[in-house]
Amino acid sequence: MPRYAITTFGCQMNVHDSERMHEVLRRAGYTESDDPRDADVVVLNTCSVREKAEQKLLSEVGRLAKWKRTHPEMVLVVAGCVAQQEGERLLTRSQGIDLVLGPDNIPELPRLLDDIGLGAPPLVRTVFDLEAPRFLTAHSVAASAPTAYVTIMKGCNERCSFCIVPYTRGPERYRPSAEIVAEIAGLVSAGVREVTLLGQTVNSYRDPSSELPRAPGASPDDPDESEFAALLRRIAAEVPGLARLRYTSPHPRHLTPSLIEAHVELSVLARHVHLPVQSGSDRILKRMIRRYTRAEYVARVGSLVARLPDLSLSTDIIVGFPGETEDDFAATLSLVREVGFRGLFGFKYSQRPYTPARKLADDVPEAEKSERLARLFEVSEELLGAHLQRLVGSRQRVLVEGAGKEGTEAWSGRTERNEIVHVTGAEALDLRGTIVEVVITRANKHSLQAELSDEARASAKPLPAATVEAPKPRAAGERRSLPIVAMGGG
Ligand code: 5AD
Repeated sequence: MPRYAITTFGCQMNVHDSERMHEVLRRAGYTESDDPRDADVVVLNTCSVREKAEQKLLSEVGRLAKWKRTHPEMVLVVAGCVAQQEGERLLTRSQGIDLVLGPDNIPELPRLLDDIGLGAPPLVRTVFDLEAPRFLTAHSVAASAPTAYVTIMKGCNERCSFCIVPYTRGPERYRPSAEIVAEIAGLVSAGVREVTLLGQTVNSYRDPSSELPRAPGASPDDPDESEFAALLRRIAAEVPGLARLRYTSPHPRHLTPSLIEAHVELSVLARHVHLPVQSGSDRILKRMIRRYTRAEYVARVGSLVARLPDLSLSTDIIVGFPGETEDDFAATLSLVREVGFRGLFGFKYSQRPYTPARKLADDVPEAEKSERLARLFEVSEELLGAHLQRLVGSRQRVLVEGAGKEGTEAWSGRTERNEIVHVTGAEALDLRGTIVEVVITRANKHSLQAELSDEARASAKPLPAATVEAPKPRAAGERRSLPIVAMGGG
């Protein structure tokens, strides 16, 4: 049987696309190889949101191309956003690539590999499915992880001036609500407890089959209104077995009263929203074409937190956008404190092809960008640290996702606010996929340590005797979900 290996770069959407590639390849008779050097087909699923990610890909292609000189039978596939962005040009930029595959062309992968096997020259397939959008469904018969992603829309109609995504992922296309509900129901009956709805601007969702009733609080005259709240309500009503529902990434414009109302009423919705703000300066927000002001952002999250005071917010921020002065950056720092973000991804502005901001001079020196990023992380670490410290001694409900970091903790999972929790002293118990009550014993830099509450310990199942050296190592094919509350970026 032919063997394949997939390496994934970038966002959750790419992680999800890679899962679908695993599925189409397995169904076509391929088996996974842990080591790309043993694989007949190597897929690099790429990201182009920042230049660094794109460079990483090109150096990986270079490494594999070198390997290929002595192993000419290996087929090298470049998929994802760099594939969509560069198309044919990739074949001239890098030697050794056999197939360039856009994100909308995943179902065609096995057929294209067959063509290459029959001696076809290097192929490029990067066509958006605009007329009949396809959303690939997870085929997990028995879920390998308690958490899963479900795509509800793809593409982006915003025109944020820094962002290449509208170019690499095309215009917005939405998936019918019945299909979304059916996929979630299938995952839940296979053992999934938590679903994260995915979309580039996930809360601009509209049901193409017009099946959703208007959600409470929805105002049809509001241009920012969408049917996202109505979709959340349908999922909650029709998949009662789902324990937790998250979504990423929303656009602040669509955090409308109907969505706030849904958060208040639906207990399945996690008490965490990742809401990219990008900057705290109105001047920069305008240049970024974000279509909200700082005051509007603060007002929207303010009305959400006023109704749900224990809700956690995290965000994305770009430092060193063209024209960003020290005063603009100071406004960003003050916004981070004002909102009290508990997680933050910070990025140095990186000029991208095909973006409106290309017309602006990339005029903040690299050293200045690095310095601002370090100052930003200092503030966000301080906020997260203080928040985690406040939780010591409290009781929390944790969805246990799997084994903790090697050797150090037994199990790890997340609270509904998305704090990462390592549960110690439960090595002999089978907690995987369960929601357990824990008592927080310690705050680490980015996570919490906890012990099971007495009640949770009394009702937990022991591990089967044969696997007493557990917790189980990660099952083959299982991929850990990305921690959303984390410091990172660069
Ligand atoms: N430069 C730096 N960061 C960017 N992002 C998107 N485009 C760029 C860019 N050109 C960041 C934004 C976005 C996150 C996914 O990546 O913060 O929310």
